[in-house]
Amino acid sequence: MTASAALSSFRDEEPDIADFRTEALAGLRRAPRTLPCKFFYDEAGSRLFEQITALPEYYLTRTEEAILAECVGEIAALAGPGCQVIEYGSGAIRKARILIDALNRPAGYVAVDISRDHLIRAAEALAGDYPDLEVHAVCTDYTTDFVVPGPKDRIAARRLGFFPGSTIGNFETDAAREFLAAAARTLGRNGAMVIGTDLQKDKEILEAAYDDAAGVTAAFNLHLLERINEELGGTFDLDRFRHVALYNDSTARIEMHIESLAEQSVEVADETFAFAEGERIHTENSHKYTVDGFCALAASAGFEAKQTWSDEDGLFAVHYLAVAN
Ligand code: AVJ
Repeated sequence: MTASAALSSFRDEEPDIADFRTEALAGLRRAPRTLPCKFFYDEAGSRLFEQITALPEYYLTRTEEAILAECVGEIAALAGPGCQVIEYGSGAIRKARILIDALNRPAGYVAVDISRDHLIRAAEALAGDYPDLEVHAVCTDYTTDFVVPGPKDRIAARRLGFFPGSTIGNFETDAAREFLAAAARTLGRNGAMVIGTDLQKDKEILEAAYDDAAGVTAAFNLHLLERINEELGGTFDLDRFRHVALYNDSTARIEMHIESLAEQSVEVADETFAFAEGERIHTENSHKYTVDGFCALAASAGFEAKQTWSDEDGLFAVHYLAVAN
């Protein structure tokens, strides 16, 4: 049990159900159909994702944590004292602890996440464990503009963005560039960013990581349909759809889809959607980078890649990017 403590501030801009309805319906009307992956992360979805991170096939989380544990002293030296850490998609706030432990007198930590209750719980637990750290939480879709709270009564020496997990891989290339460019503006002249990217590797390893034997990733993907049923009055029969995860060589990305097992129609918010047998809903992309490819992308968004660390098998990379001036 970790003690929990009050946050220095909490700002609630959680996207409301109307946004979910509008975006889900728009995606289901499209050909081919899509559903945005950010809607995976409600309470139950965030819990399923935590289970994914511990799966034997899902090498990403443990590999990134091991790299971070190794390189965090060098990151702290590059970042210097008095940094304010801003984490994009903070989830359970496990990896940030590795960073915070190594930083010299951090000026605070700002957790940004779309999943409200999960965010509050994780941020309060962090505040309980780090009584001297100024902890703020912002519930928002971090691809939209948001105001960075704090630090109180002082000026941070540097804003240090933290975007682990290879979540940048969930963006299409142009959107990734736009996200990074917006982050560079938020982080400001002295800003820097610690970011994790999954690396290109054998297809078999990648496909197993996104289609585990225990079926947790399948449940995570199909949970989107459950959310639509519960929140938007949907009639999806989860037994008549299946999870599909395939590596697309030409775009260097894992694509997750939900495939209809039969010809069937489904109602969502009083609208009827007719599915052919084998028809798919595209739910997620997870782009895999090369170190050079990612550094070039970061450069095109106004960051200078200062240093990259990787594991000895070259599975995953952690980069320290400085806002270019
Ligand atoms: C959110 C980027 C960490 O793309 O690997 C895990 C989400 N999707 N399994 C990823 C995810 C399916 C994940 N990240």
